Amino acid sequence: MRLEEANIFLKAFNNGEANNFVQRLLKNNYAEAIIEHHPDAASVDENLIRKKCNQLVELIFQRIEQVKDIPDNLFPLFYRLSRNNQDDNSIWFKEFEEAYHNYKHNRKLNNRLKQLKPFLHGVSYCDIGCGGGDLIVFIKRNFSQFKGYAGIDVLDWRTDSYKDEINFQMLDFSKPATKSSFKYDTLTCLAVLHHVGNKDEEISIFLNNIHTAINPNGRLIIEEDVVLPEYQVNMNNDYRMQLEILSKRQPLFSEFLAFEEEKQRAAIILIDFLANTLSVGVPDMAFPCGFRTINEWTEIFEKNNFKVEDVRIQGFVKGNFNRSSHAFFILTPN
Ligand SMILES: C[S@@+](CC[C@H](N)C(=O)[O-])C[C@H]1O[C@@H](n2cnc3c(N)ncnc32)[C@H](O)[C@@H]1O
Repeated sequence: MRLEEANIFLKAFNNGEANNFVQRLLKNNYAEAIIEHHPDAASVDENLIRKKCNQLVELIFQRIEQVKDIPDNLFPLFYRLSRNNQDDNSIWFKEFEEAYHNYKHNRKLNNRLKQLKPFLHGVSYCDIGCGGGDLIVFIKRNFSQFKGYAGIDVLDWRTDSYKDEINFQMLDFSKPATKSSFKYDTLTCLAVLHHVGNKDEEISIFLNNIHTAINPNGRLIIEEDVVLPEYQVNMNNDYRMQLEILSKRQPLFSEFLAFEEEKQRAAIILIDFLANTLSVGVPDMAFPCGFRTINEWTEIFEKNNFKVEDVRIQGFVKGNFNRSSHAFFILTPN
């Protein structure tokens, strides 16, 4: 039973404005991403794709609506609707599958490398919470600066063909005093921390374990989905200016920024759950939903002996299937 996680999701789902906003966001993102990433884009009928995406998202929300008073039924529903559950009743249509496949093995990694490139540093690289290992292999093939490429994850779900290409340590960094046997110059930890826990102690243990994997002059790049309350943004000129630029380019992100803190948090929870359980298709993942504001992240990083060198807010990155309020934190060990 995953009652606690189901209740976190359903509380966010019952937030009417966040719920409506996320439905609109998903319809828009899926349609735009299919049109952009379909391998035979010229053959794709934009109106038809928009119609199919609208129907898909409405169906998902209707099915959740039917179980919303029975939290025990939520995860079984996610398993049934998950894109990885390819039974005859699959709700995912052909163009979605084709475009997602192309995106996952190509464009998504390319976009990520482009975002990370300015911060990659030194001669050794490790991705913490590396999942299938796709990013490590992509960086190895497309960015030859590093001599060593490695991954750390609590589970070994690397793609078989990558197993000989990258060093890998299976480590549970949520357990106190877990040590990496090697140290690296650049570490990434992307979309991981909010799955580790929602309490300071849980994040502190994880960050302390990361210290065992980083060289003294190393750099840690963390990607998180951040809550961006107006009062905090207005206190920091750099964040305010970054958001002004992003808002002009990303109208839906601009709408999100106008929400008060709890509504933003509810929207991020819905986006993250629905992305991971359904379109990515991994409902097994833990969903403690440890989302924080930039100031809250900064505070916990500093408490755990990291210096925050830079924060780069990305917002709802165009072309991504799953867009959220993304930001990169560039940290160095104290
Ligand atoms: C949402 S996925 C992100 C995967 C990948 N970084 C990406 O951005 O596509 C979270 C990853 O963190 C890993 N993870 C979760 N808890 C962990 C822990 N305690 N120690 C190490 N890895 C963990 C999961 O196994 C999973 O691969």
